[in-house]
Amino acid sequence: MAKDFSLRFLLLCAFCVKLTVAVADEGMWVPMFLAKYNEADMQSKGLKLSADDIYSVNHASLKDAVVQFGGGCSAELISGEGLIFTNYHCGRSRVQSHSTLEQNYIEKGYWAMNRSEELSNPGLTVTFLVRMEDVTSEILKNVLPGMTEVERYTAIDKTSKQMEKKMVEDTHYEAKVKEFFGGNEYYIFITETYKDVRLVGAPPVSIGEFGGDTDNWMWPRHTGDFSLFRIYADSLNNPAEYSPNNKPYKPKKYFEVSMKELKEGDFTMVFGFPGRTQEYLTSYAVKQLVEEEDPLKISIREKRLAVMEKAMDADPQTKLNLHSKYAGIKNYYKKFIGESIGLKKVDAVQRKQELEKQFTEWLNANESRKTKYTNLLPELEKTYAEFAPYNKGVVLYNEAFTTLDFVTYVNSFAKLSDLLKKGVKREVLSVEVEKHTKYMRSFFKNYNQSLDLESAKHQIKAIINYMPEILTEKQKKKYRKDNEKYITTLFSGDLLDSLKSVATLNALIESEGPAQEGGGGKNKSDIVKSENGFGAYDLAFQFVSTVTQNFKEYVYPNYVKLDIKLDSLNRIYTQALREFQTDKLFYPDANSTLRLSYGKIEGYAPNDSVVYTPFTTIDGLIAKENPNDKEFIVPAKLKELYEKKDYGQYAVNGTVPVCFIASNHSTGGNSGAPVLNTQGQLIGTNFDRNWEGTAADVMYDPAMARNISVDIRYTLFIIDKFAGAKYLIDEMTIVR
Ligand code: ARG
Ligand code: GLU
Repeated sequence: MAKDFSLRFLLLCAFCVKLTVAVADEGMWVPMFLAKYNEADMQSKGLKLSADDIYSVNHASLKDAVVQFGGGCSAELISGEGLIFTNYHCGRSRVQSHSTLEQNYIEKGYWAMNRSEELSNPGLTVTFLVRMEDVTSEILKNVLPGMTEVERYTAIDKTSKQMEKKMVEDTHYEAKVKEFFGGNEYYIFITETYKDVRLVGAPPVSIGEFGGDTDNWMWPRHTGDFSLFRIYADSLNNPAEYSPNNKPYKPKKYFEVSMKELKEGDFTMVFGFPGRTQEYLTSYAVKQLVEEEDPLKISIREKRLAVMEKAMDADPQTKLNLHSKYAGIKNYYKKFIGESIGLKKVDAVQRKQELEKQFTEWLNANESRKTKYTNLLPELEKTYAEFAPYNKGVVLYNEAFTTLDFVTYVNSFAKLSDLLKKGVKREVLSVEVEKHTKYMRSFFKNYNQSLDLESAKHQIKAIINYMPEILTEKQKKKYRKDNEKYITTLFSGDLLDSLKSVATLNALIESEGPAQEGGGGKNKSDIVKSENGFGAYDLAFQFVSTVTQNFKEYVYPNYVKLDIKLDSLNRIYTQALREFQTDKLFYPDANSTLRLSYGKIEGYAPNDSVVYTPFTTIDGLIAKENPNDKEFIVPAKLKELYEKKDYGQYAVNGTVPVCFIASNHSTGGNSGAPVLNTQGQLIGTNFDRNWEGTAADVMYDPAMARNISVDIRYTLFIIDKFAGAKYLIDEMTIVR
């Protein structure tokens, strides 16, 4: 106990001292404000560029070489012919979709040896930021004093939509207004999206995911988490749907690739699309996250993963089908654990409480502040307490209900059902049935009913035990009598039988609607209508629709009401904090918009006597090899290169660097983002964080937060020496 206390004390104090010196590494900065807030600081730390070189609307700048990849990741341009790097785990589902058991690119990797071998990926897009503008005053001009929160939202939404439309009239651009600082500020983003993005290369999973889930979110790391894609454009270099006539995209800007020496202390920056952080939460919210929300998600996912593992181990096709999905669930399962540990380790709740105490003293010292904000914290505390049970309900619904395959599937039927209840034109119905049939085919292609049933047993129990009111009395009775049997019978109906489903749909189009007025009895009417909708006879259908309906009726409205109230209180609190801490430079929480973080290559010390250095090498990778553990298999070719020390130009001191850590503030969404040196040259691709450091999504601690990157020299080594695709490297601009 005593030891534990002194360790915590040490950590706490380490933070007190470091706060003033190291805090500059914290922050995800807004590109258009770099000149105003960050340029001087960055240059003092080594940056050789100006803010204008990084973000400009007047000429090509680094921002033109960064894209949001597939909606959730980042990627960077590395050649004049549209070539981009992202992470292996960002491209993985595409590699999977081109794979079969006979031609398994997950296992073997994939390398296009010329342009014609590059594989197209329907639905995959990359998005450039064209420009951004601060539109706070225009957006807030229709928000009037005394408006309720809902009225405020409605006014903002209306103004935003008008502005978004006007800004991109007669262009192929898109515009989106986004809120910053919890709704105290609003910026508009003009973007351009390319829709023909082809797979160029990906290493085998044994390199792209080396270390698997054991090493995920961990340092030291030896993962070659990269893949290559190419953007294609029409003959005018504009976005176009896939066409064999499309040409490689000619970028305004691409990154030079640096093979220069790297060492501890070197300045680095990460330029990407971080998804979501919540740095300005109160202690009440953090407490709820650590004590309730994270543990709940962890427990649901744990069971879900165990069921999946069993099915994957039993059948190779299932293993291939579920590869990406499993990794995705496990990834955040492990993140939630790390976040809880990390937040406890940095005493997040206690530190927030301390801040709130100081804040209250500051309030009380001044009459006008006191009147303005006096009830704010007590009101937040009370509202979080009211919010907790509904939030738990929503977490359960999202994690344990809508994640069941049959629920998603039945919900697609529910759309048809609603149309039928209202009455629908036969032509419209045909179109909808066709859409659904298409979806149904892809659904049944990979549907694993026994797996879904096993997951349902755990998940449905979790949700019903917490919210029995979402069932009807009749369902409850059956459920109580024998819950296992009840859940099993849900899977026995017609809807989950693909053949019968198709027959039912055909019957639906052919069905007779109500007799037309004055018509002669037997004619089919133009309108098809059915009082009971569709599928009402089916147990799964009944179950999914009652649960959904009751959830939407009893749980969700309360959740939304309190969530809106919390949004409003948090907005005011964020504003008040900015008035309170006038000497602190505030940055807005991540919201999937382009941001720049900067820091330096540095190790860290997570525990008493444990000190990590910032670089790993191929020697460390080989030392981790374990042929009996699927996560630590080293492909024979890589082993051979290692044994012959055949490192070519990528050798550094007799080895090859593999990964490095740095103190750049990052989060989910920064995956695939370029990691840059003082001259804006590419030195790595960001792909992860250290486990304790994931707490930085809620509280950044400079002693603990590190981003993990794959060293560009390892990436080049794999492309050239392992894959024999040197022609790709020749396409890049390498600087030494
Ligand atoms: N943790 C990283 C991220 O959040 C990498 C995940 C991919 N790797 C894996 N073993 N699941 O996306
Ligand atoms: N791997 C993460 C991603 O997909 C980045 C890791 C993090 O959360 O920082 O974006």
